Amino acid sequence: MRQLMKRFAKSMALAGASAGAVLLIGWQVHAETNRVRFPDLDRLVHYATVKRGNVTEHIMTTPEAIEAVKGGQPVPAGTHFVLVDHRDGELYRYFVMEKGGKWGADYDENRRTDDWQFQWFWPDKSVNMNENTARCQSCHRSQADSEYLYTGYRIPRFSGTPVE
Ligand code: HEC
Repeated sequence: MRQLMKRFAKSMALAGASAGAVLLIGWQVHAETNRVRFPDLDRLVHYATVKRGNVTEHIMTTPEAIEAVKGGQPVPAGTHFVLVDHRDGELYRYFVMEKGGKWGADYDENRRTDDWQFQWFWPDKSVNMNENTARCQSCHRSQADSEYLYTGYRIPRFSGTPVE
């Protein structure tokens, strides 16, 4: 019996390993589900608005992250930043960044954005599987000095009304 269990465990481990390999190959071409989870939007604070043509973006994060940035401290693990993207007044998609504990280890050095991971969600909160989130990372890497955030510099000016 013990022998059988051992064999079973071994074959499960092998199955797991090959599923992982398929996933890894998939990563090179398009998106993956990663560690980013859709946040509870009701907990987030809308601190900035960006308008460009027919696009209106509401950018939000947690009260704790706002406090950290204002105090010159690193944003805590568990933080979400969300860009709610509206087109012609209609919700189009959500861009989400989430910081975890040691999540950077999931990626190679040349892709890594410290412990931040990125994801594109549709209005029904499903992941857009046609997006390679390496693209998100490669653009946001230019903001490495400000926690990979483009609009973080607006947070110190925020006091209740979204900063435009
Ligand atoms: C070509 C560069 C570029 C790419 C690619 C990109 N972003 Fe951004 N991102 C920006 C800019 C610039 C802003 C600031 C808002 C604006 O100007 O529209 C921003 C803002 C954000 C914000 C709000 C927090 C912040 O940084 O200010 C989130 C969240 C975000 N992006 C997530 C994503 C996700 C998820 C992806 C991939 C699906 C992505 N971004 C791809 C340039 C990029």
